[in-house]
Amino acid sequence: MRTETPQTILRSDYQPLAWTVTDVDLHFALDPANTLVTSRLTLKRNPAAPAGPLVLLGDELELMSLKIDGCEPAAPRITDTRIEIDISGDLAGDTVSAEIVTRIAPEKNTSLSGLYTSRGGFFTQCEAEGFRRITWFPDRPDVMARFTVTLEADKAKYPVLLSNGNLIGQGDLADGNTGRHFARWEDPFVKPSYLFALVAADLAVNERKIKTMSGREVLLQIWTEADAIDRTGHAMESLIRAIRWDEERFGLELDLERFMVVAVSDFNMGAMENKGLNIFNSKLLLATPETATDVDYENIEAVVAHEYFHNWTGNRVTCRDWFQLTLKEGLTVFRDQEFTADMLAGMVANEGGDSARAVKRIDDVRVLRAAQFPEDAGPMAHPIRPDSYQEINNFYTATVYEKGAEVIRMLHTLLGQEGFRNGMDLYFSYFDGQAVTCDDFVEVMSEANNGFDLDQFMRWYEQAGTPRVKASGVWNAADGSYTLTLAQSTPATPGQHVKQPLVIPVAVGLIGADGRDVALRLEGEAQPGATTRVLKLTEDAQVFRFVGLAGEPVPSLLRGFSAPVILELDEDDARLAFRMAHDADPCNRWDAAQRYAERVALALAADPAAMVPEAFVAAFRTLLNDGALDPAFRAQALALPGEAYLLERMLPADPAALRGALVRMMRALGATLAADWLDVVERLQLAGAYRYHPGDAGRRALVNLALRYLAAAGVGEGLALAEARFAAATNMTERFGALAALVQSASPARTAALQAFHDRHRDDALVLDKWFALQAGAWSWDAAAESALARVRVLLSDPSFSLSNPNKVYALLGTFFRANPGEFHAADGSGHAFWAEQVIALDARNPQVAARMARALENWRRFTPTLQASIRPQLERVLAAEGLSADVAEIVGKAVAE
Ligand code: BES
Ligand code: ZN
Repeated sequence: MRTETPQTILRSDYQPLAWTVTDVDLHFALDPANTLVTSRLTLKRNPAAPAGPLVLLGDELELMSLKIDGCEPAAPRITDTRIEIDISGDLAGDTVSAEIVTRIAPEKNTSLSGLYTSRGGFFTQCEAEGFRRITWFPDRPDVMARFTVTLEADKAKYPVLLSNGNLIGQGDLADGNTGRHFARWEDPFVKPSYLFALVAADLAVNERKIKTMSGREVLLQIWTEADAIDRTGHAMESLIRAIRWDEERFGLELDLERFMVVAVSDFNMGAMENKGLNIFNSKLLLATPETATDVDYENIEAVVAHEYFHNWTGNRVTCRDWFQLTLKEGLTVFRDQEFTADMLAGMVANEGGDSARAVKRIDDVRVLRAAQFPEDAGPMAHPIRPDSYQEINNFYTATVYEKGAEVIRMLHTLLGQEGFRNGMDLYFSYFDGQAVTCDDFVEVMSEANNGFDLDQFMRWYEQAGTPRVKASGVWNAADGSYTLTLAQSTPATPGQHVKQPLVIPVAVGLIGADGRDVALRLEGEAQPGATTRVLKLTEDAQVFRFVGLAGEPVPSLLRGFSAPVILELDEDDARLAFRMAHDADPCNRWDAAQRYAERVALALAADPAAMVPEAFVAAFRTLLNDGALDPAFRAQALALPGEAYLLERMLPADPAALRGALVRMMRALGATLAADWLDVVERLQLAGAYRYHPGDAGRRALVNLALRYLAAAGVGEGLALAEARFAAATNMTERFGALAALVQSASPARTAALQAFHDRHRDDALVLDKWFALQAGAWSWDAAAESALARVRVLLSDPSFSLSNPNKVYALLGTFFRANPGEFHAADGSGHAFWAEQVIALDARNPQVAARMARALENWRRFTPTLQASIRPQLERVLAAEGLSADVAEIVGKAVAE
């Protein structure tokens, strides 16, 4: 555990190393308690850097021996985390060799960073700075070397030995090493140390051979414990689709003879793109219809694709330093979003496909608003390329990922699909095998597009905070013109008070009184053109004048969510209802419903006696009964906005009042529209075997939402349907949907249903995660309901729960802290005290997981004074905890800083 006071690392301090590594030869004698790592390095003077010592970084390592060119160095400067060696005298050649022997204890590694054990096997996780927990090394992404790896282990316990690249040798060990075997792997590509991986375990494999676009045969393997091998089919299909898509859309080919993916049960993140050896949290790899929902299927396909896409955007071209993280993550998230949209649209091509694409876009926008907007408005706000950090693990954020992907999407919008592709081609031609910066990327995009000016665009990389775009329109009946004024501003964020105007692409449409889009003609143009066009807002304020209109239009702005901004536009209820019914842009149609629901929720939260307006219910009914609309879209538009998002829109945030409002809305929409919901359940019910398909998934989503509303309102027929579907379901989407409806209701049937679900899946860790999460997230629907905290406390001692397994922690504690604000922020402060207790307990084992949980309270200053008074002492209690990690110290320190 690091106990020193946290250090702040600055982006402006970047210096190349004086000594880099060209070749690494690693030898692992694997043993859970006592693993010996021998590292032989070829080091080279870096001509681009000023003279300096050889620097090696380490973390919790036991150094056994260290030799430079075969001799012990004269006066190495050694601390717990750093070794500096002056290379001088007769060693001052251009290259030197080093041999370093280190001892580690993987079974004691509870942080799951570096080399650790999980269910009896060995696994690694090296991004961002985990490699230095395995051996002393200049562990930075700008050091790119060729790796050869030999693994040695007990053959019976660890029959499978994997590392990056190609298998170049294997066999049994002789003499005094009975029962042990070895495998030798060589990665033909240079890579930074964060992409190193090894696996030694008892695993089964699902493998396929395919030909790549140039006709090379490659071996694809998915490895998991034997009893889960029948759950790997979807991941394999997903991988093949990802390989094909990258060939077609970007001309990028798999560059190895073999590509391996391994499932592991204990993993801090979702998955990791190690070269040729991706390691996945099993929840994002394994699926059967009986164990995974439609959403799980979609997530698995997206994450398999994401990690595969990193092979080019991240691995072949990597980041110079961790401040550039969005270079690989924002770009790769954009690529996986586009992939998923293409896959979904392709599966329903005969129905047009556009709706499936829009549904995907709406999902992504929902995530951005729920996770990234609050982050950008709190103490952790940072640009997609941060200027400083204390602990890099805290910067794998929604901002770097999701806002980063939006920034790439804006580039794509500005340059067009072809211009963007040309930029990507040039990027690889310049930078293959190198570690580069975001500036390099944007410059190359400009160069490939006739010097397209992206100087101002770079501000998206520099400024934190969600920009506001204020729109106002003036209709002139006399000359048939509509004058739209767009003004932008970005609120101050910590350490960044002055903001410059950004380049904001605003996609605009105008809707006529008949509900149809009108062809747009800007002043000065000869004739009307398309019905949606992208206006480029670059100044503080700009005016756009549309002419030739027959009547006053209704503006539809920021179509397709063309920029990651908050649009401010005065619209009355009638206009929102009009756009809910007519907006040709599905994103905006959905957004109109969200805005209307938000308005009602905040009004109800402010006035406990207020009723849900009839006009609102009527607008929902119109959407619900519009059979021409894709069910998946209706499910999105009819779901109330997320609580986290609404709290962000409420000042002061009062979770209990908001919860009360949402309960009233669920009940009113459920009861008043009961007949309509029941009708939906009947009509959209699917028969036949489960298939993962967007059309079917949409129907299941809308039926599950209908059951939610009906159960919330206590509609007897709806509850009976939920119980029947729960009992008869043949797939997890339906079974879990019905269970969720029962649990989110006052029905006494909920207890028995939870028990039945548990009994059915008692041996399935991934399904039990759903069972934990559902209970942690449940609302109180009647006075008799047990508090969520009481339930969570009981579940903490459930035999299937473990604080050492991140999935369990995220399911139970993560859901309670993040997805159940109405209960977490109980007025008596019990939730807050529980939070501190758990963050401290977790921090002692796994700082990354603890820091993620700690973030649940970072926006505490937005809450009511009473809640703030309850939270502050708990933040201080965590901050004062002995041996607090740098991870948690940064989060909580920034939260309490004035
Ligand atoms: N490179 C990351 C995994 C990672 C992140 C490792 C942080 C270590 C520290 C990987 O490519 C990734 O982004 N994974 C995401 C899922 C992805 C689909 C957005 C994750 O793990 O959440
Ligand atoms: Zn990634």
